[in-house]
Amino acid sequence: MGLSSVPATAVLLLLTAATTTVRLCAAQALVPGMMIFGDSVVDAGNNNRLPTLVRADFPPYGRDFPETHAPTGRFCNGKLATDYTDDDAVESLGLSSYPPPYLSEEAQSNNKSLLHGANFASGGAGYLDATAALSGAISLSRQLDYFREFQSRVAASAGGQRAAALTSGSIYLVSAGTSDYLQNYYVNPMLGATYTPDQFSDALMQPFTSFVENLYNLGARRIGVTSLPPTGCLPASVTLFGGGSGGCVERLNNDSLIFNRKLGAAANAVKQRHPDMKLVVFDIYQPLLDLVSNPTSAGFFESRRACCGTGTIETSVLCHQSAPGTCANATGYVFWDGFHPTDAANKVLADSLLLQGLQLI
Ligand SMILES: *[C@@H]1O[C@H](CO)[C@@H](O)[C@H](O)[C@H]1NC(C)=O
Ligand SMILES: *[C@@H]1O[C@H](CO)[C@@H](O)[C@H](O)[C@H]1NC(C)=O
Ligand SMILES: *[C@@H]1O[C@H](CO)[C@@H](O)[C@H](O)[C@H]1NC(C)=O
Repeated sequence: MGLSSVPATAVLLLLTAATTTVRLCAAQALVPGMMIFGDSVVDAGNNNRLPTLVRADFPPYGRDFPETHAPTGRFCNGKLATDYTDDDAVESLGLSSYPPPYLSEEAQSNNKSLLHGANFASGGAGYLDATAALSGAISLSRQLDYFREFQSRVAASAGGQRAAALTSGSIYLVSAGTSDYLQNYYVNPMLGATYTPDQFSDALMQPFTSFVENLYNLGARRIGVTSLPPTGCLPASVTLFGGGSGGCVERLNNDSLIFNRKLGAAANAVKQRHPDMKLVVFDIYQPLLDLVSNPTSAGFFESRRACCGTGTIETSVLCHQSAPGTCANATGYVFWDGFHPTDAANKVLADSLLLQGLQLI
């Protein structure tokens, strides 16, 4: 089922209502800041500072980024769902700018640049620290260490009271899990032999729960966690695991659904322990599956082939300026590279995230 006209209208009405509310309170931001943790879906440039091959700081990445048309380190031709600012999440929350990548020069050199949050995400990271180690990404444990350092820098710059208000009022977004499957479980014969897909998803719930508990203990009270996307529909998955069928890989999508079900249960368990915390699992599975299954209803024409290169596999260093085949205009494509949506698809996903995110406010 696609984004048929009736739900789309309902969505629009709700979005309009949300936007209006925000405009009415324009003088006061709904939340003081945003903290972002996780993987390449939300990394806005931290990996630029790392010796890793999982990077996107060269063209054609960023070619449609507003104003600069230059690479930023985002794994996209333009903006990520988390920084989409037309009707978008960040602006709708009343924030004036995207949180800077914590390893960026700006964030590293100036404590004041951190007063509306920071982005700690790193392409290649997963719930398992071992997943991040495979690509030299910043593990979630390390991202948490950076967050602790962030807190003391904010306190040094703006005082303890302001730092505490920023910590408790901010929205925390966590996006992880895809790399644990695609860059680790599915390609690591040892893991494959040790765990069934069901057991592997269980093994990810413990680090998920600890991560959220750690955020809570550090003062976070509004946390959104993204579900897994339909990993079997990512162009690189179709190529690597599809056996030539050309369609979404059902086995992988099933694994994502198992994971998502457990994630919901694990999140509920944490919520029960902490009634003073808002914790929402954002479903990105269904919105992305809808785009892939019925691209035309959302104004897209290509949801199998990605724009970059042959569109079957290229990502990171393989998606470079002279990769043959890159499309001229990514607007009608759902996927920018083998693993990541286009700016245009991220805008659609952002609308869905925003709607679900209202529960955190
Ligand atoms: C920034 O924060 C660090 C760590 O708390 C502190 O040592 C440093 O003095 C701060 N710099 C400024 C200019 O406040
Ligand atoms: C995926 O799950 C569906 C529903 O549970 C099941 O019918 C199907 O056989 C599964 N497919 C694979 C490849 O595991
Ligand atoms: C890309 O295509 C869209 C329609 O699909 C069009 O609106 C847009 O102007 C095109 N952009 C460029 C740079 O040609």
